[in-house]
Amino acid sequence: DKGGWSSFMAKEVSEEPEAVANTLRGRIRDGEVVIPELDGLDDLFTGISRIIVIACGTAAYAGQVGKYAIEQWTRIPVDVELAHEFRYRDPVIGPDTLVVSISQSGETMDTLMAVKYAREHGAKTLSICNTQGATIPRESDAIVYTHAGPEVAVASTKAFVAQVTALYLMGLHVGRVRGVVPADEAAAHVAELEAIPGKIAQILEREQPRIEQFAHWMADTRSVLFLGRHVGYPIALEGALKLKELAYIHAEGFAAGELKHGPIALIEPGQPVFVIVPSPRQSAEMHKKVISSIEEIRARGARVIAIAEEGDAAVLPKADEVLRIPLAGPFFEPLLAVVPLHIFAMGLATAKGLDVDQPRNLAKSVTVE
Ligand code: M6R
Repeated sequence: DKGGWSSFMAKEVSEEPEAVANTLRGRIRDGEVVIPELDGLDDLFTGISRIIVIACGTAAYAGQVGKYAIEQWTRIPVDVELAHEFRYRDPVIGPDTLVVSISQSGETMDTLMAVKYAREHGAKTLSICNTQGATIPRESDAIVYTHAGPEVAVASTKAFVAQVTALYLMGLHVGRVRGVVPADEAAAHVAELEAIPGKIAQILEREQPRIEQFAHWMADTRSVLFLGRHVGYPIALEGALKLKELAYIHAEGFAAGELKHGPIALIEPGQPVFVIVPSPRQSAEMHKKVISSIEEIRARGARVIAIAEEGDAAVLPKADEVLRIPLAGPFFEPLLAVVPLHIFAMGLATAKGLDVDQPRNLAKSVTVE
């Protein structure tokens, strides 16, 4: 039931705040992350020296976002790999490896086969999944469910924010179990997480109509590029994937630092480029670098749509359009910056008269290899 929305996707984007809130529910006690499903499973986290996240598509981008915070909080090296690549390269894994799979459906065949492979080769396995009782969680040693609610539209939206939330919860849990995240620091991260649903709701309320308007104006666009740095990089990839699958437009995400290594050759007058601008409060250096990337592409005629935090005045004169997201702490911005990109892809597909719930050639759950 679309509940009065024009599509399941529109409904699911509107549910992004709840998807995060429901994934947090019952897992925070006195400012500390306590995941009841992981009770008694501390040995999954104490004896490991590395984490490999495996997933496909949007779930893999959630993994790439999660990597930064999990490494920082736990000081365990984290690799993120596409499930279908992982399995066919004879990866070096064993009892010191925790393989974390991420899957909305819990039925993606590539991810399932990778989890089985990991187990057979002695690794520990943890599943982050949105579907109770699905095959992947059943095949894993531990499960952290995302509670995004059923996702019907083929394009994954609310599941993505729930996956990042679950990864952050897991990271803080592992950090606590291993005694590496000081309690006050963990409490600050928890407070950031708890504030996310309200901030996503603000974006939906304040920016959605404007973004849909742009999308409408851009309905004839043939190519859109997305640039990001650090945690903004996987968000650029996610923005591009959503646009490809929903609006059938050539779209590519790049790490902003790669521009000079090739992609800048693509910039010609009128080329739309979304740029995810990192917070200047967190890293003045990274912020400066991204602003200079904007200058470089704009000098070559790009039309820049920046996603920047409120109050970042430096970006205003540089970009053609600025979409604002509320302030958030380090690592938490991706949970906000992705929302305008979901709205944009949906808006553009709608402006082209396409079926946003069921794009051509795609299935919600890819159960073949
Ligand atoms: O069910 P899963 O999370 O395992 O699905 C993984 C991908 O197939 C999925 O995220 C896909 O990329 C989406 N259609 C993207 O919107």
